[in-house]
Amino acid sequence: MCSVVGYNGSGPCRQQILEGLARLEYRGYDSAGFACITTASKLHCVKAQGGIDQLRAKIKMAQDDGIDGAIGLGHTRWSTHGSSSENNAHPHVDCRRTVAVVHNGIIENFAFLKEKLQLLGHTFVSQTDTEVIAHLFEDELQTKSLERAVLAVVSGIQGAYALLVMSEKHSDYLVAIRKSSPLCLGILPDQTFVASDVAAFIDKTDEVVFLPDESFALISKTGYAVYNFFGERIYPPVEKTVCTWSAEGKGAYEHYMLKEMYEQKRAIIDTINFLRLHKSTRMQQLNLSADMIHDLERIHFIGCGTSWHAGMIAEYFMQEVAHLQTQSFLASEFRYKKFFSCSRTLTCIISQSGETADSLEALRLLLASKQPTIALTNVASSSMVREADGFLLTQAGQEIAVASTKAFTAQISALFLLAHWIAHIKGLVTTQAMARAEEELFVAAEVLENSIERYKFDIISKRAPFYARYKNFIFLGRHISFPCALEAALKLKEIAYIFVDTYPAGELKHGPLALIDAQTPVVIFSCLDEVVYKKLYGNAQEVKARSGHLIVFAFEHQQELLALADTAFVFPKVNPLLAPVVMIGLIQFFVYQIALVLDRPIDRPRNLAKSVTVE
Ligand code: F6R
Repeated sequence: MCSVVGYNGSGPCRQQILEGLARLEYRGYDSAGFACITTASKLHCVKAQGGIDQLRAKIKMAQDDGIDGAIGLGHTRWSTHGSSSENNAHPHVDCRRTVAVVHNGIIENFAFLKEKLQLLGHTFVSQTDTEVIAHLFEDELQTKSLERAVLAVVSGIQGAYALLVMSEKHSDYLVAIRKSSPLCLGILPDQTFVASDVAAFIDKTDEVVFLPDESFALISKTGYAVYNFFGERIYPPVEKTVCTWSAEGKGAYEHYMLKEMYEQKRAIIDTINFLRLHKSTRMQQLNLSADMIHDLERIHFIGCGTSWHAGMIAEYFMQEVAHLQTQSFLASEFRYKKFFSCSRTLTCIISQSGETADSLEALRLLLASKQPTIALTNVASSSMVREADGFLLTQAGQEIAVASTKAFTAQISALFLLAHWIAHIKGLVTTQAMARAEEELFVAAEVLENSIERYKFDIISKRAPFYARYKNFIFLGRHISFPCALEAALKLKEIAYIFVDTYPAGELKHGPLALIDAQTPVVIFSCLDEVVYKKLYGNAQEVKARSGHLIVFAFEHQQELLALADTAFVFPKVNPLLAPVVMIGLIQFFVYQIALVLDRPIDRPRNLAKSVTVE
């Protein structure tokens, strides 16, 4: 969630590091810091609460503008241990201010180590887990070589970490250490970058070394050497990488979230076209043989947040189109549950970033027990793509706003197609039916965008200002519209900070009905299954009978339900399995406008970060 960026080479480092950090700010933005070793071999460190702009201002204010060096490191933070403050910002230094450390991850045994170090006389100035690393290096470097000191430190710490370390004593070297958290080197003849994500340096080089798990690199001005945690030299390959980083900016849009909402139609079309045009590559990437597909008994989906919701929606695709038993799991729950290995179960890990710690660890658990896996992600250079047995790439383009929008609809589109490919191989659908499925997705993408346009002014001028006054909402769905309701609720909580409780509508009378009153709007997401629709209509009546205020997202022919609504949003009929795609754009827009009325920092909601690389 935090990001680390480092540089060692021929040029001054500060500009390079600040630029890299600015690109990784999506990973955390509550504080930032920079340190370098100057030509006089002195360590210099600047930190600021807030993002990179605040850090740049701080550098100027402190008249540190001249401070630069050939070797440096930087950090943007998403707090785990200790509040967001300048003291807790990275880099952290040792007692003598000769060692600087930045960290992404969690040191699980930091409390024990801190106590031990304090007994030895070390003084701590922050509440972070990371500071122990600086003090551990301070001690180890007194008697050991740099390489030995690294081995000693990693043998004593537990947890997940991407660490960058530098010291005045070894002022020619930058050390990069990785366990579980991602870390990669960007290679150039006379300079080396190191960062949590290739986006930090992709404009400078596409030659990348992904540090293997439990390894470290000693980076000098002229190159690097990589070692495993046994101290043996290893030679991870230099790979040419692709990265979807774009310097496009927000354009005319007020927020990235708004821009990305409007990019959904294009994201869906690009995903369909990419998967259609690159059919043979796609099958190779998926790494699924026809025999395997014929033998498949079950498909599992694993993800977090919005990606989990995409999996819940895809359950219906797999059951109804591919006739497969399906189940979705939250990665953070799956990891700590008993699971039963079965070679006939395919697990699809869904993750926009391909780096989410819980999802990645769930994948590793499955790989360790030889379960077939595929990763569905939006980032071709991500850890999940490298580690899973096969992968499927969405083409949403880089998503910058913390709240996922276009990545979600692109995931659903790819999963809809995956269900059809599997069904085709199983002989359940014809080639024509597959082509029709693509057409239906195009139509859904069109309806998604048109619906926003249709209700835009009504929402901006009337609905959003009206509903922004409410403190609580209840969201209801049934069947495939239940995960859609969960996703809609997540958006309202995340960017507007409004509390929402979400239920499958059938659960209403088992308790939540007691909450219904005029002060708590109930939002019902309809679906196109006729039987389920009738049940939803019944649930809406239960709400109205108790003077509930009803907002309905429904389809043109669902007049009985629409007639009950205090506010109605109406959609044309589409393939029933794609109902969530058409409804989600409008609810995202509605929620966005509510957040705007409430003056929320929409692209960077409080307490959150885009890529959750800690457990
Ligand atoms: C919500 C949101 C998050 C992510 C979740 C998983 O808008 O974006 O809930 O979906 O953190 O992230 P990925 O998909 O990168 O694994």
